[in-house]
Amino acid sequence: MSSSSEPPKSLSGKVAIVTGGSRGIGAGIALDLAKRGAKIMITYTSASSAPAVENLIYQITSLGSSASSIALDLRDPSAPSQIAAATMHQFGRIDILINNAGTELTKPISSVTLSDYASVMDLNVRAAYLMIQSVLPHLPSSGGGRVINISSVGARCGFANFSVYCASKGALEGLTRSLAAELGPAGHTVNAVEPGPVESDMMDNLPRELIELQKKMTPVGNRFGRVGDVAEVVGWIAEEGSRWVSGQCISASGGYLMT
Ligand SMILES: NC(=O)c1ccc[n+]([C@@H]2O[C@H](COP(=O)([O-])OP(=O)(O)OC[C@H]3O[C@@H](n4cnc5c(N)ncnc54)[C@H](OP(=O)(O)O)[C@@H]3O)[C@@H](O)[C@H]2O)c1
Repeated sequence: MSSSSEPPKSLSGKVAIVTGGSRGIGAGIALDLAKRGAKIMITYTSASSAPAVENLIYQITSLGSSASSIALDLRDPSAPSQIAAATMHQFGRIDILINNAGTELTKPISSVTLSDYASVMDLNVRAAYLMIQSVLPHLPSSGGGRVINISSVGARCGFANFSVYCASKGALEGLTRSLAAELGPAGHTVNAVEPGPVESDMMDNLPRELIELQKKMTPVGNRFGRVGDVAEVVGWIAEEGSRWVSGQCISASGGYLMT
């Protein structure tokens, strides 16, 4: 419970949608925004993630904020409008959209099938696009809306065998700049945050040499990013203090990618 001596929370009264908020970076973002006072709609897709989502909602509620969740496959083009409608029904407004849900694919171009291509693009690009289209009519008419697309250093680094993933993250950059220009006159900002390698279960399975190389390529502390390193950058962009920043692709990678 907040005491009267505590400063008001920067996102009090705001509502944020975090796609892919069940785990990893998305769960960290959901928690960070809730700590700043926002109410959170968490989206995810796998039944196996339901217990983690329940736990996250419990943590957010314990912070004195509130959260709800919706399980839908964002590759289904009807999912984004359902998410926007559920958020309006639950919380009555939408101020912040975090397009975080994403997938990766490691394959040489010679092996990539049409279905591989669609699987990455439909989630990483089309779903993000349709999410923005679906929330737009609900962003505050007085301005101040925030769209934050989670891209990757892969948008600009040339990683072999990641062609579809890197193309999808590059597409998010183009989307970010174009929509920053288009939504700016209404007072909304659109930015991308680009994480470098972040500590995860997946990292534990990578060859030791690759892990050491990735760490060497990260100047700040020669370590992998942590979820909080990325979430706090996103949290700041969600706040009023970032109002003069739009159309930017911000590398949150400990200097792995310097733009
Ligand atoms: N981890 C990194 O090192 C890294 C680096 C650069 C950029 N990124 C980007 O950061 C974002 C989050 O990455 P992460 O590593 O935290 O991901 P993650 O741990 O794999 O979690 C992915 C999230 O997306 C959701 N999701 C997956 N497929 C979905 C679908 N078809 N429909 C709806 N939701 C779906 C998952 O829901 P379920 O739990 O229900 O499956 C989960 O919440 C991604 O966009 C990724 O490209 C990550």
